[in-house]
Amino acid sequence: MKVGFFDSGIGGTCILNAFKKLCPDVETEYIADSAHCPYGNRPQDEIVRLSDANVRKLLGRGCGMVVVACNTATAAAIDYLRAHYPDVPFVGIEPALKPAALRSKTGVVGVLATAGTFGGRLYNETKAKFARNVTVLAVVADEFVTEVERLHGAPIEELERNEYARVEKLVRAKVEPLLKAGADKIVLGCTHFPHLKPVIEKVCNGRAEVLDPSMAVARQAKRMMEVAERVKLDTNA
Ligand code: DGL
Repeated sequence: MKVGFFDSGIGGTCILNAFKKLCPDVETEYIADSAHCPYGNRPQDEIVRLSDANVRKLLGRGCGMVVVACNTATAAAIDYLRAHYPDVPFVGIEPALKPAALRSKTGVVGVLATAGTFGGRLYNETKAKFARNVTVLAVVADEFVTEVERLHGAPIEELERNEYARVEKLVRAKVEPLLKAGADKIVLGCTHFPHLKPVIEKVCNGRAEVLDPSMAVARQAKRMMEVAERVKLDTNA
């Protein structure tokens, strides 16, 4: 089965790459909707419309399953997509707040995401259910999205010195206040952010663990694909 992925830009390639490690022989399609990036501050109905267009393209290219490789699009559109394409399996992504809250020793957790993700049902339900006993510091970090798009996904380690220093300053401005407030877990709640993980970890300098859910989402996508393939075989038998 061909598996489709989409994001507002190149962010979701962190999930695509994790999936390809797990399933090197599976055919994939990736849509980076860079023309409309960022999604983070758009109204929900607009993100639904953009997500719907991405899904239609992926289905038109023969995908049998879609990974919404974007926290913001998942927050805004996953319910709509599941209702409108009942035969298509969808995998979404939400900030890894649950493991962060359960594993935090200081009782303070930092989450970096977009405004759209923080306003979504999934995030708020998870927060109410699993993070009642911890302090959650939610930080909108749209600048990171713009930065990753600007760098076209260039490996951060290979940036020229001044460029690297600029990115580090940007990251420090968002992450340092979280560390000062005692956060020992930093959740990367946007698929653009793992691209900056080496810098975020450098700024944390062992003071907090950085949680990147890319591999967990890829594993979930693999499981769902295997189930969908079995169902297809059973239906055709
Ligand atoms: N990569 C996205 C996410 O996971 C969206 C970033 C944006 O377009 O604002 O939320």
